[in-house]
Amino acid sequence: MRLEDEKKAAALAAVKRVRDGMVLGIGSGSTVAIFVEALASLVREKEVEVICVPTSYQSAILLASHGIPLTSLTEHPTLDLTVDGADEIDPNLNLIKGMGGALTQEKIVAASSKEMVVIADSSKLVEVLGVKTPIPVEVIPMAWKTVAEKLAKLGSKVELRHGSGKVGPVVTDNGNFILDAKFPRVDQPKTLEEKINNIPGVVENGLFVEMAKIAYVGQGKTLERKQF
Ligand code: A5P
Repeated sequence: MRLEDEKKAAALAAVKRVRDGMVLGIGSGSTVAIFVEALASLVREKEVEVICVPTSYQSAILLASHGIPLTSLTEHPTLDLTVDGADEIDPNLNLIKGMGGALTQEKIVAASSKEMVVIADSSKLVEVLGVKTPIPVEVIPMAWKTVAEKLAKLGSKVELRHGSGKVGPVVTDNGNFILDAKFPRVDQPKTLEEKINNIPGVVENGLFVEMAKIAYVGQGKTLERKQF
């Protein structure tokens, strides 16, 4: 099955969890864009009324373009359900996220949600986090070099992410830079997540540990976190 078809199958499975009146968190990325299309048709056909907190300019613009009402965590600090993509998913449903440049608002929104559902194609499944993807780390711009050195000391190869379509470093939706820290593998994601976030200058990192409850991965494949 083509990866695009797998993304679609995952997005359609997740949309079945949406109920009338829900306050939703909407992640970022190409799989979420497919989910939003499906959500928009439910809203258009008046099958459900929902209100959504976006996690990036991308998802805010997408939701608005479909006429889906937006809200914020100030108005709704607790969300019913967040649907988001991932860059890597391990068997315990721990994730690496942020390859699209969005991660901090995604983590805040997921942490404010009663339930986080992940949608992805099967290329995102890994046995151990970090084998394919670096860990994106959002940093305050003036601290990028000192944070990069500390991430290297933790055992990673670090690169400042540069833009395509823009010269110079990628600037996030929050006005920060992104360092991509490639570890050979991440055996203890919780410990590493905490160590990275302890470095002064780090805003947030792309390890999402014990946050996702269910992952829809491609056609018909559902993974559920066991001890949740
Ligand atoms: C955005 O920065 C990420 O966290 C996305 O959730 C992740 O990159 C998945 O994106 P795709 O659905 O485009 O693969």
